[in-house]
Amino acid sequence: MKKIILALDVYNYQKAESLVKETSLYIDIYKVGPILFLHAGKKIMKMIEKSGKKVFLDLKFHDIPSTVARSVEMARELGVYSLTIHSVGGEEMVKAAVSVKNRPKIWVVTALTSQIIKSFEVVERAKFAKFCGVNGVISSPLEVSLIKKECGNDFDVITPGIRLVKSDDDQKRIADPKIAVKKGADFIVVGRPIIEAIKPSEVAKSIYESILTK
Ligand code: C5P
Repeated sequence: MKKIILALDVYNYQKAESLVKETSLYIDIYKVGPILFLHAGKKIMKMIEKSGKKVFLDLKFHDIPSTVARSVEMARELGVYSLTIHSVGGEEMVKAAVSVKNRPKIWVVTALTSQIIKSFEVVERAKFAKFCGVNGVISSPLEVSLIKKECGNDFDVITPGIRLVKSDDDQKRIADPKIAVKKGADFIVVGRPIIEAIKPSEVAKSIYESILTK
């Protein structure tokens, strides 16, 4: 599977559809977050599925265990490939999500990449997530190798906070795509560098080519 996950952080169905069409040569998984999900919900899921692609539903569930488990069941009914829950929901919540039968992959958010947080704390949260039985974690590119070392290679690490050039936006703990992949990221989540580009397909292509393992 290709390593770039495109964050479809747009609130316009047509724009989302054209981004999927333009980038489909380089991307297999599209991330649908609250903005697009609240705007176009199931329609967007269907469009991505019809394009032969997978959905990463990034709604970062954080609620009482039974509500999170039911939410994971609903995501399974929508056919999503993977989804996020928050690590701070605690053991009972994370294990309730994990216990859902035939569920999508569960990736735990260790911390937001816009937050300043010590690396050891992120690694502790990743170890906790692994102990609870999830498939992997979302972390900044800065902690990938530490998490892989502590949790093993089979434990997915997905990194947002990808920047091609130094930026002044809300992402604080950032890295270049090549570095994130070299450090062991299984997938890199890229949003604004592609969706705000004049030619999204060209940026997607250049990131794709830059991280191809020779
Ligand atoms: O535009 P940008 O490349 O910063 O997009 C990053 C995406 O990853 C956003 O959709 C954001 O919600 C998401 N994300 C994140 N940090 C996390 C988890 C998800 O930036 N820890």
